[in-house]
Amino acid sequence: MRDVLWANLSVQYFSPYSLGNSFLKNSLSGKNAALKLRFWCKTHLVQSYVNVDEQHYSLKKGFHFMVKIVGISGSLRPGSHSYKALKSAIERVAALGAEVELLDLRTMNLPFCNGGDDYADYPDVARLQEAVKSADGLILATPEYHGSVSGVLKNALDLMGFEELSGKVTGLISVLGGQSNSNALNDLRIIMRWVHAWVIPEQISIGQAWNAFGEDDKLLDEKLAKRFDAFAQSLVENTQQLQQK
Ligand SMILES: Cc1cc2nc3c(=O)[nH]c(=O)nc-3n(C[C@H](O)[C@H](O)[C@H](O)COP(=O)(O)O)c2cc1C
Repeated sequence: MRDVLWANLSVQYFSPYSLGNSFLKNSLSGKNAALKLRFWCKTHLVQSYVNVDEQHYSLKKGFHFMVKIVGISGSLRPGSHSYKALKSAIERVAALGAEVELLDLRTMNLPFCNGGDDYADYPDVARLQEAVKSADGLILATPEYHGSVSGVLKNALDLMGFEELSGKVTGLISVLGGQSNSNALNDLRIIMRWVHAWVIPEQISIGQAWNAFGEDDKLLDEKLAKRFDAFAQSLVENTQQLQQK
């Protein structure tokens, strides 16, 4: 059984190997553990994974920039499958070390976009805008409605602009009552290109969504679960690469 330890360190200048060596020698050698390191290097928050086994220690992976991923689902339906899909994806992204935030539009009071920018009566508009602005990447999950993106998700996107959406690395998921297809995904890809977001090539379309999740909201199909793994991996890695300042 492996322990997972988190260490938050504050280091201005570092040599990864000397930091790893002395830290591991002093405190972890001889333990069976996976260590995740987070620390500041100059101006950047960096994270790394270090695997330690009984006999020796090694730096298995390179050092990566921490990323924040925000998830939004475009269905207001209680028991929404889009939200379940979004949660499955965001849990995987979090397991890869990303900071995550889920925006549940069912609990937010958002008006229709009126083409202006004064939504003082709707503080959730600012909440939405700030959460997305603070993100490096996004996951958008939409039900397919009449062959396209739901109005709920499109309206949420319309309440934002370049300031919030431009440059965001984005993964797309669609959820359908019928057979899986790419209609809503293609439309969403065009929308996100229009606001200068970077949409990753991996995407997920879940057909007959009423049949896709168990009672615990977990994906029933192993192959689909693997697609979610690859989707999450690509989103985190591409966000790390594109957002590296
Ligand atoms: C207005 C509306 C339009 C729909 N259009 C489609 C469609 O074009 N294709 C399809 O396969 N399912 C369609 N559906 C079914 C939904 O995609 C399906 O029920 C999905 O699970 C809804 O997402 P949710 O579970 O997140 O609410 C439609 C449902 C509604 C309410």
